[in-house]
Order: sequence, then C-alpha cells, then structure tokens
Amino acid sequence: MPSFAALGAWLWRGEGPLVLGDLSVQPADLHAFHIDGRDATARKLRLVIYLLLGFNLGFWLTDDWLLGHLPYVQPALTEGRVAATACGLLALALTLVPDRLRPLAGWFGAAATCGVIAWTVGRIGGPDSVWFFYTFPFLFLGLAAWLPPAHRLLGTALLCATTAALFFGPHPAHRADPVAGSALANLVCIALLAAAIGVYLDYFRLRVFLMGREREHLVADLGAQVAAQTRHIQRLLDHVETAREAERGELAAELHDEMGQLLTAMRCVVKSHQLRGAGGPDLDQLAQLLQQSTRALRDVLERLRPRVLDDLGLGPATEWMVHRVAGLGGLDFALDLPAHGALDTLTAREATVAFRVVQESLTNVLRHAQATRVDVQVELDAGQLTVRVEDDGIGIEPGLDSQGFGLLSMAERAHTLGGQVVVAPRPRGGTRVSLTLPTPAALGLS
Ligand SMILES: Nc1ncnc2c1ncn2[C@@H]1O[C@H](COP(=O)(O)OP(=O)(O)OP(=O)(O)O)[C@@H](O)[C@H]1O
Ligand SMILES: [Mg+2]
Repeated sequence: MPSFAALGAWLWRGEGPLVLGDLSVQPADLHAFHIDGRDATARKLRLVIYLLLGFNLGFWLTDDWLLGHLPYVQPALTEGRVAATACGLLALALTLVPDRLRPLAGWFGAAATCGVIAWTVGRIGGPDSVWFFYTFPFLFLGLAAWLPPAHRLLGTALLCATTAALFFGPHPAHRADPVAGSALANLVCIALLAAAIGVYLDYFRLRVFLMGREREHLVADLGAQVAAQTRHIQRLLDHVETAREAERGELAAELHDEMGQLLTAMRCVVKSHQLRGAGGPDLDQLAQLLQQSTRALRDVLERLRPRVLDDLGLGPATEWMVHRVAGLGGLDFALDLPAHGALDTLTAREATVAFRVVQESLTNVLRHAQATRVDVQVELDAGQLTVRVEDDGIGIEPGLDSQGFGLLSMAERAHTLGGQVVVAPRPRGGTRVSLTLPTPAALGLS
C-alpha cells in the first residue's frame, strides 16, 4: 500500500512510488513519465490553439450561409468569434512562458474558450434551448494533454465553472428558467464524464509509457550482456591464438631438437659407411631418403614457426614465402612491400597474423585457384597495416559452404587484434584476400 504522502504526490504531481493494478511503478519511472507528459503537452499546446483558431475562423465564413436566416444569432455570434480570436491569440502569446508554466497557459486557453462559447450561446438562447448544448464538447479540451489526476479534476472543474458562470451569470433570465437546475446538473455530469475519461486516458498513457520504458531497459540489458559476452569471447580467442602460436613454437623446437638430431646422426653413420667404402646402391638410396627427410622436416618446421619471420621480420618473410609458393606452382608474381625497415615497428603478434594470412592465402591459391599469377601487397599507413593477396584464378564459388578452416582462422586471427579479413572476388576475375589491422604501436600510441 502506498503511503498517503506518496498517493498525494501521485495525485498532485503524477510522481511517487505506486502500484497501479499489475504495474509496479518505480518513482524514477513516474518522474520520467511526468516530464515526458509535460513536454508532450507543451509541444501539443500550440497545435491545439492553432486548430481552435482555424476552426473558429473557418466556420466564421459559413455563418452567413448557415445561420443567415436567424437574424438574432448573427451579432452575438460575430462578437463571440472576435472574442474567441482574441483569447486564442493571447493563449498563443502565453505559450512563450517557460515550460513549467505552460500548463497554466493551456488551462487559460481552455477556460477562455469555454467562457467565450458559454457567453456567446447564453446571449442567443436559454438553458432550455439547443444552444446550451454547444458548450458541452469544449469541456473535453483537457483530453489533449496528459495531466496528474488532481490537475485533471481541478482543471475540468474550472472549465465547468467558467461555462456555468458565463452562461448564467450575465443573464438573470437563464437563472430563473425552470430547467436551469437540470441544465446545470447536465453540465456537471458531462464535466465528470470528461474528467473520468481523462483519468482513464492518463492511466492508459502511463501504461504505454511504462511498457516502452521496460522494453528500453530490456534492450539495454540485452545489449550490455551481448557486449560482455563478446568481450569474453574476444579474450578467449586472444588466449587461444597466443596459446596456438606458443604451442607451434614449442612443437617446432622439440621436432628440431629430437628429430633433427636423429636424422643428422643417421646421415653421419651412412656417410662414414660410404667413406669406408662399405657403400652400395642400398646405402646410396638410404642417404638420399635421409636427405629428403631432412628437407621435409625443415619444411614442417618452417610452417610451424617460420624462423625467417623471427629472424628477419615480416617483409623478408613475405618475400621468401611468395618466392617459394610461386616457384612451387610455376606462377608469375608481383610483390609490393613498404620501404626496408618500415615494418619493424609492428609487434610480434601483428607480424605473425599478417604472415599467417599471406601464408594461408598463398596456400589456397596453390590448392584451389588454378591461377597463373599472384599479386601480394603489404602497406603500412596511418596506423593501419593492409595486406592484399590477389590471384587471377577461377575465384571462390559463390555461396560456398566450405568445411575448411583456413579462411575462418585468418578471420579469427585478425579479429583478436581488432582487424578484419575480407575475401572477395577480384574485379577482373580471381580472388582477393584483404587483411586490415590497426597497428597503434606503429603510430606510437601503444
Ligand atoms: N584463392 C582461391 N581461389 C579459389 N577458391 C578458393 C580460394 N581460396 C579459398 N577458396 C575456396 O574456399 C574454400 C575455403 O578455403 P579454406 O582455406 O577455408 O579451406 P581449405 O583450404 O579447403 O582447407 P584448410 O582448412 O586446409 O585451409 C576452399 O575449399 C576453396 O573452395
Ligand atoms: Mg586453406
């Protein structure tokens, strides 16, 4: 149960902790609704005044035609329209007051409209005439605005009182009319109806507003969760990538130390047998096989952890890789690298990612592209590294659902450093793989 103070705050200002039906309303939500309603009312106020002015002036033109045959109506109606126009203009001027006071301008405009209508129709007919009923619709003017309940009740009462005062006040004959009491009761009933509809509308507006707020909160929560998850996945990817490179390095070292030594020892043994003249075709073949195994091991080691990258850096490593692949596939090639030493500002991880992208792209060219030429370009400009590998081959099948990991792992590697890989058709046929990587260290920002 809300306290009386809270209920009072809700009734008077539309603010406070409240439970409305199934809606549990937080003070902050009510406050936001209050501000939103006040602003919306302020925005609509001018529009309503323009509409009423337009309505008044527009129907003025038809008065002659519609009511010309009722000569006792015309003078009162014309004076009423002049007064209504003056009140409308005054209300318009009052909208220039600060936002907080605008509701007052609104109530002044509504009360003035009701008063002018009541005064005008009171001059034309009494409470028993149809003219009296013309005052009723204007009691609903407050519906255009959102209002706290107490303001709505008081405001509607003000409109009702103004209407009654200006209809009966200047005309003692109306007050003495036998139906005056019943007409007044009728007026009060209509005002109560307008207030009840208004309170219900306000409640409905509040519900719609709160639902919107709830949806906004949900969307914000969801956004925050997605962002947190993305950060988490990013950290994991980062970790996986670092671990993968470290493991490759360790494996390469193990293979080099264990297998490399064994193969060298075997080659020495074979060599010493050959030197002692104990050779034969079998021993020669064994020597050849050992040589091939040593070359194969070196290739595997290079793929696992290219020493050339560690020893010489990205530029020479790329050059070495391009020569090697172009040689293997009998491809023409063009290589465009930045000036010597420009790539030395890259961190080890950036250089590794770039090298792995070149390596995988070139391997794909050999395996899938059926190309005759490959172009490799590396650029480092304004804190961004760009690597492009283009071939003139058959191009990637559109909509291909590949089981391979090469493209996926390129994208993943780039992503861990905030970059991206785009694989797209080359304009003149073939495929273009582009890596872009932000390199803050190269700008001296790290
Ligand atoms: N340069 C290219 N030209 C034509 N097709 C390509 C090219 N690069 C990739 N593809 C196509 O895209 C597919 C996916 O390439 P991806 O590198 O991901 O996998 P993969 O090379 O098949 O296997 P792996 O996991 O060993 O790399 C390939 O199977 C191939 O069909
Ligand atoms: Mg591949």
